[in-house]
Amino acid sequence: MFGNKNKKEVSEEAVMAALSTVIEPELHRDLVSLNMIRNLKIEGQDISFTIMLTTPACPLKGRMEGESRAALAQVPNLGQITINWDSNVPTDRRIGSQVGQNFRNTIAVSSGKGGVGKTTIAVNLAISLAKEGARVGLLDADILGPNVPMMMGVDQMPSPRDRKMVPAERYGVKMISMAFLVKPDQPLIWRGPMLHSAISQLLTDVAWGELDYLVIDLPPGTGDAQLTLAQVLPLTGAIVITQPMQVAASDALRGLKMFEKLEVPIIGILENMSGDFFGTGAGQKLATDYNQHYLGAVPLDANVRVGGDSGEPIVVAHPDSAAAMAIRDVARGIAARVSVLNLGSKDANFIPISMIG
Ligand SMILES: Nc1ncnc2c1ncn2[C@@H]1O[C@H](COP(=O)(O)OP(=O)(O)O)[C@@H](O)[C@H]1O
Ligand SMILES: [Mg+2]
Repeated sequence: MFGNKNKKEVSEEAVMAALSTVIEPELHRDLVSLNMIRNLKIEGQDISFTIMLTTPACPLKGRMEGESRAALAQVPNLGQITINWDSNVPTDRRIGSQVGQNFRNTIAVSSGKGGVGKTTIAVNLAISLAKEGARVGLLDADILGPNVPMMMGVDQMPSPRDRKMVPAERYGVKMISMAFLVKPDQPLIWRGPMLHSAISQLLTDVAWGELDYLVIDLPPGTGDAQLTLAQVLPLTGAIVITQPMQVAASDALRGLKMFEKLEVPIIGILENMSGDFFGTGAGQKLATDYNQHYLGAVPLDANVRVGGDSGEPIVVAHPDSAAAMAIRDVARGIAARVSVLNLGSKDANFIPISMIG
């Protein structure tokens, strides 16, 4: 050895033993048995390693880093510790075989009725996940009221290539909408079979590329489009949005019940437009009453609406505002819940982890 001969080298066993006492807070298992510690390098007293997360939007990075450093403080002679981060989003394996696309997860954004901020949340959620480094697509499945392009500030898609539609790209998100295919003044009347083929096409005839998350803006209500989507595409989970007043909760409940019937897992309930004007609480109460996960609340803020109208969503226009930070936290919570749902499912494929035993 060339280094200081008076100091003992740190052993790999000692480092791994220390890290095996650190518990992943969402998955409730230790970092070593989850195979999340990669690329451990020891140079004399100094070590470096990578923590492989299940999402780049992990809300608990800081906590895991703190706990890892605390655990490593027990290892004698340890010098500098460098922690790197990487992620490998688990795959919902049902998706690829059914639509022939490389989507690791599909997240439906829904509400019992219109006007509760479904499109607003879908757009800001997609951008937030992309900002964290995930590969994100946004499918506007609101065939009758396709508002995603306006909120994203895009009015057309690129020319098709190899007989496939090419998604528009903005703020790091790939996006497709029925609005690209019809004229704005053309009335849209869809019957069941047409709806089915329209939604199918937006999924299969598009060169989406590989995506960690496909976010889907569903039409309001509990009708044909929801049913069609659940038939055409396996959904990793659905988010149900409610407004904060108690009278709104019954609409959201209908949405909740519909997904239960369709056997689509509920990622969680989100309260939008929360605050002094509409009050607060319906989201949390609904989650508690029906034993669902509560994702948090996004405040009522005029800048959210301005962002939607101007095509520059609040997480882009005012990323440090309370509303944008609430959406960012909700997005991280959703990503974490998707990992948990996926890892608990027999259909999930996350190579680094064996959940058996
Ligand atoms: N948190 C919020 N604060 C203020 N305005 C909001 C908020 N969320 C949504 N809005 C506005 O409310 C209106 C309806 O939202 P939208 O996303 O179109 O609802 P939906 O898709 O459910 O019909 C839009 O004008 C939007 O900008
Ligand atoms: Mg909408």
